[in-house]
Amino acid sequence: MIIDIINKKANKYELTKEELETIFIGYLKDEVKDYQMSAFLMAICINDMSDSEVFALTDIFIKSGDVLDLSFIDGIKVDKHSTGGVGDKTTLIVAPLVASCNVPVIKMSGRGLGYTGGTIDKLESIPGFNVNLTEEEIKKQASDIGIVITSQTRDLTPLDKKVYALRDVTATTNSIPLIASSIMSKKIAGGADKIVIDIKVGNGALIKTEEEAKRLESLLIKIGSYYQKEVKTVISDMNRPLGHNIGNRLEVLEALDVLENKEKGKLYDLSIELASKMVSLGKEISESDARKEVIENLENGKALNKFKEFVKYQNGNIENLSIDAKVYNIKANREGVLKDINALNIAKLCEYLGAGRKNKDDKIDYNAGIIIKKEIGEEVKEGDILASIYTNIDNPIFNLERIFEIF
Ligand code: URA
Repeated sequence: MIIDIINKKANKYELTKEELETIFIGYLKDEVKDYQMSAFLMAICINDMSDSEVFALTDIFIKSGDVLDLSFIDGIKVDKHSTGGVGDKTTLIVAPLVASCNVPVIKMSGRGLGYTGGTIDKLESIPGFNVNLTEEEIKKQASDIGIVITSQTRDLTPLDKKVYALRDVTATTNSIPLIASSIMSKKIAGGADKIVIDIKVGNGALIKTEEEAKRLESLLIKIGSYYQKEVKTVISDMNRPLGHNIGNRLEVLEALDVLENKEKGKLYDLSIELASKMVSLGKEISESDARKEVIENLENGKALNKFKEFVKYQNGNIENLSIDAKVYNIKANREGVLKDINALNIAKLCEYLGAGRKNKDDKIDYNAGIIIKKEIGEEVKEGDILASIYTNIDNPIFNLERIFEIF
């Protein structure tokens, strides 16, 4: 009985794989109701899961849908995942950078749900870019240029999708075992041989504390070794947005700045770190040797050329990429030092401006977003422009104090 399984978790007992299958597969088949699954997920949030429960749940998620076989592509396939952050455009930089080092990158992504778009939305903001490739096209592109980013061709981990949608509306997103099994099931079903995971920590992320990030890190590595897939992780700050631009096309423009060696800073550093880990896994070389190669290919323009080749191959056009929106400036209301930029509140403003979606069928305004003009620690005068807002909304409303802290 479903109620016995819920009770068992509520009373802190360990569940068997059969019990987990009964409730989760029952949910996929609509035999278990949303209200029963909500109670069960909350019991997991409060009482946690053992490692063997997490392995079993990951397996149930994987087997709920298709599993991709990428063995037709030579070489070790390394995938990258981010737990989600504001202004996180690292995939746009890291994927061509890694591919330029001759490590194949074949990424299948979903569209983003949330305050700002996902990688597929960012790519779709490039005029003409085709994110709907057939499996034949993926194979040809992978063997021709070694890099493909496309939406999912098959139904991967449909159970995770259904459970995640429920977690989103029942305050059960921040359970570490649920996050770990959700991420790892998608990566394994996506056919990766090895995986690099960027765990974001801070007010703009799902994970709020360093301690939770460490627990997630250890669980992701354990699940990886259970499936004989090597996992490397990075724990990175998400109290502040990553880089200056937030919003789909604005993020493509900033990724280009990094690839063109025009921007250093946190976005550059994190991109180099993630790419070095991926190249080290893909080529089975040390991270320091991988790092040298990665920096060289960013500086000599090979990564930029790979990005251009990849965009062109998928019919995108980045000549004259510009923003078609009204511009409003956020100005400092006093003199002082810029102490903080709140990632979560910037993300909420971006969604309001049109850059994200609340429901999966909402339309995104690819031009909408924000460019931050000042750095933390910089002195500002009253009237200085702190950020520019791009939107098609007339006279957007924003609250300066919720985004910028000046002392
Ligand atoms: N990312 C995922 O894919 N799943 C989660 O549960 C959290 C972040």
